[in-house]
Amino acid sequence: MPKTDRIAALKDEITTWRRDFHSNPELLYDVHRTAGIVAEKLASFGCDEVVTGIGRTGVVGVIRGRSSGSGKVIGLRADMDALPIEEETNLPYRSKVSGKMHACGHDGHTAMLLGAARYLAETRDFDGTVVLLFQPAEEGGGGARAMIDDGVMDRFGVQEVYGMHNMPGLPVGSFALRPGPLMAAADRFRIRVEGKGGHAAKPNETIDTLLVSTHIVTALQSIVSRNADPLESAVVSVTAFKAGEAFNVIPQTAELMGTVRTLTPELRDLCETRLKEIVTTIARAFGATATVEYERGYPVTRNHAAQTEFAAGIAAKVAAGAGAVDLEVPPTMGAEDFSFMLEARPGAFIFMGNGDSAGLHHPAYDFNDEAIPVGVGYWATLVETAMPAN
Ligand code: NI
Repeated sequence: MPKTDRIAALKDEITTWRRDFHSNPELLYDVHRTAGIVAEKLASFGCDEVVTGIGRTGVVGVIRGRSSGSGKVIGLRADMDALPIEEETNLPYRSKVSGKMHACGHDGHTAMLLGAARYLAETRDFDGTVVLLFQPAEEGGGGARAMIDDGVMDRFGVQEVYGMHNMPGLPVGSFALRPGPLMAAADRFRIRVEGKGGHAAKPNETIDTLLVSTHIVTALQSIVSRNADPLESAVVSVTAFKAGEAFNVIPQTAELMGTVRTLTPELRDLCETRLKEIVTTIARAFGATATVEYERGYPVTRNHAAQTEFAAGIAAKVAAGAGAVDLEVPPTMGAEDFSFMLEARPGAFIFMGNGDSAGLHHPAYDFNDEAIPVGVGYWATLVETAMPAN
């Protein structure tokens, strides 16, 4: 049976898996049910190796081709975790767990990579080895890094890695990617300002933390407008401001929180340095003190040039109907855990159209099952093209 027919024939079954994952969302590393199903299915497809517990709850499946003379080993990655969001849909397969929801489509990513595993284990029409990487905790938990720290790349000899994320607004059958930075580094900060509280009628006897903090919020906007190269992208957002609870009291302390997003390591360093300088010196100027906790999150998701060109070629073969491949999509300031894998090995991350759906992380979002054959076709074609059978 030709490949597209075989994959089309698997669509209904893969859809059933996807909807089961959707009904049973799990968070971060606590993906025991999902990981258990993934491992069980990989074994039932006849994968040569299935290993669980990598990066706590990550699962790896290994499929060797008809031959392995090429010595090539390619890693394909899917994420398994959901989000702490209350689902607001009336879908028959809506989340059965209150406060948890697959609002980023990782249910679809996991189901599509399982579908590709099934096809590849059945046909083995390639010369080399595929390593399927099912990771936990993409949503803020660093599950990819946990798997790498557990030695997944060396242990399975992975030479190149590929990842995929669905993209609402992009038509089903279309793809988008770019070489270089595709998604941002995402850092977070927490600022504590300590002044001198007191009666609001006697401000002269206080050090007004609230006034100090508002100056800090305003001055932080100068990092992007005055320190960053205007041709580069950066975001500095203060997203929480907690101070005071009475009409007539000047608060003793204030707390600010926020995020910094950048597309290059140099700008990332610059933003961190300037943020700390601005906060501490402004506080000092008013006679207050301030501390900054700055926590680096996911690094830049940086696509490697050769693998990106290769991935774009695969996408062009698979792009369906009115589908197209945009090789110059602008970067987004969102962040992605796959960035750690791209730091460990050359590879490429690609966006795949989810059609006209609600946005990612929205309570009405749903993965588009019509995209399943496109995603599975991308994985299968990538493997068979990168490691052609003799
Ligand atoms: Ni996601």
